[in-house]
This record gives sequence, structure tokens and C-alpha cells, in this order.
Amino acid sequence: MFGLNKTLAKFCDLKGKTAIITGAGRGMGKAGALKLAQAGARVVVSDLEECQLVVDEIKKQRGEAIAIRCDVSKKAEIDSLILEVLKKFSKIDILVNNAGIFPFEPFLQMPEANFEKVIDVNLKGYFLMAQACAKEMVKQKSGSIVNISSIAMGQVGVGFVGLTHYCASKGGIVAMSEAMALELAPFNIRVNCIAPGAIDTPGASAIKMTDQQRSAMLAPIPMKRQGRSEEIANAVLFLASDESSYMTGSTMIVDGGWVAG
Ligand SMILES: NC(=O)c1ccc[n+]([C@@H]2O[C@H](COP(=O)([O-])OP(=O)(O)OC[C@H]3O[C@@H](n4cnc5c(N)ncnc54)[C@H](O)[C@@H]3O)[C@@H](O)[C@H]2O)c1
Repeated sequence: MFGLNKTLAKFCDLKGKTAIITGAGRGMGKAGALKLAQAGARVVVSDLEECQLVVDEIKKQRGEAIAIRCDVSKKAEIDSLILEVLKKFSKIDILVNNAGIFPFEPFLQMPEANFEKVIDVNLKGYFLMAQACAKEMVKQKSGSIVNISSIAMGQVGVGFVGLTHYCASKGGIVAMSEAMALELAPFNIRVNCIAPGAIDTPGASAIKMTDQQRSAMLAPIPMKRQGRSEEIANAVLFLASDESSYMTGSTMIVDGGWVAG
């Protein structure tokens, strides 16, 4: 039925679980939604626009999903998303915070508003979503939160010119996740991050690059290629499932060896 990696989905069984994934209209979020559905989860596919096409794809593969529009930088929209999910599925077991923006802009010219916009979506959005979902997870004393950071998080020997705001948000996600992991462990709620390297997604392809710049980007990556969204989705599935039951406060790097180089 689902093609790719059925064995992993069988291993990481999510039957009976409700999962919310943000920024799931395309790219890694979409791949994550398909993967979680493949493992049996009821998936809430959320993005700025209603992504019914992703839901249709999941349903075609006999999975269960609904689409709910939500801008993660707006608390009121998150509150109504949570109400709708609870009305439909009664509980929330998994949150994948994935929605993110990465507009390149030189530091010296970066207006305050542009810095704030990236932080609002990439960092505050993760905080608001995690807090809203954790309030529900606490009641059932179980849950898994997976936060998509990036190797742009800092301290790993890889730098990104033109992404001051983005790097700040991605480093913030890791630090925030560690703190959340501590406070939520007593409630059997785990919080982990994934730090992807260069992944081939619509968002990444939209970045204007010459062939020379693309080769320069791939040069330090030992595997000499970009990752596929499905390769991140496999890590999402593992961290969302009970197969990672002793992992919390961790960051899993999925980067073709980039930071090891
Ligand atoms: N592609 C990469 O190389 C790469 C590497 C490391 C980390 N990441 C991170 O992975 C995540 C997914 O990236 P991608 O490459 O698939 O991006 P993408 O641009 O292809 O998809 C991102 C999705 O997020 C949605 N989104 C944007 N703002 C939103 C908001 N305010 N509320 C809800 N949804 C919103 C967009 O509509 C889009 O559908 C992001 O957090 C990104 O920072 C990407």
C-alpha cells in the first residue's frame, strides 16, 4: 500500500494515536504526515493553507487524516486548531513542529521586523504549539513532541551566511526542547529534536543558487547529495513512536555526515 519503508512503519506502530504535524502541505512536513499515517496514526495535516491534497493522498493509501489550516505564529489559530482536533479525535499523542521559514538576508541590512517574523514562526510557533499540545498530553500522562531544528542550530561547526534570524531560531528550538523535556518527563511526555542537513524540498529548491554555489554546498557533505524528505520522515517516525521510549531532550542529526566532516 504505502511503498517506501513499510517495515519501519510496522516496527514503529502508531495505531490509535493522534498526530499533529505543522507545515505539512509540502516538503518534509508532507513526507512526515504520509509516514505517520503509514504507521497507523490519525494525522492532522496543518499548514498556512488547507492542505486537502495531502489528506487525499493519505486517504488513497487507506490512512486516516484531516486538514486544518493554522498559522503557528498566531495563538488564537492554534487554540482553534486544538479544539477542532479534540472534537474530532478526543486526544493528542504526537506533535511534530515542522513549519518553518528561511528567507536569506544579510545581517547588517536585516530589519527588526524580518528578524521578528522568523522568530515568531520558527521559535514562538513551536513554543505555542508544544504548550497547547502538552496541556492535553499531561492529562493522559503520555506524548511525544518532535521539533524540527537544523544543523544551523550552532555549535556543530557549520555556519550559514544570511540566516542570522534562522540560526537563532533553530538554536533556540534545541535549547527550548531540552528545557521542555525536563519539565515534561514527569508526565511521560518526551521532547526531541531533529537537525536535518541540506534536504531537497520545495522550500530549499526556491533558494536561488548557481550550479557553482550548489556544488560548493554539496562539497562538505560526505554523502555528496541532498537528503530526501522521506529520510527525515523516518527519523520523525522513530522519535514519535514508543521505539524511542528512552530518548528525551535529544537532538538527532540527519545530514549525510556534514557536521562529522
Ligand atoms: N530543507 C532543508 O534543507 C532544511 C534543513 C534543515 C531544517 N529544515 C527545516 O525543516 C522544516 C521544513 O522545511 P522544508 O524544507 O520542508 O520547507 P518548505 O518551505 O518546503 O515547507 C515548509 C512549510 O511550512 C509552511 N509554513 C510556513 N510558515 C508557516 C506558518 N506560519 N504556519 C504554518 N505553516 C507555515 C509553509 O507553508 C510550507 O508548506 C522547517 O522548519 C525548516 O527550517 C529544512
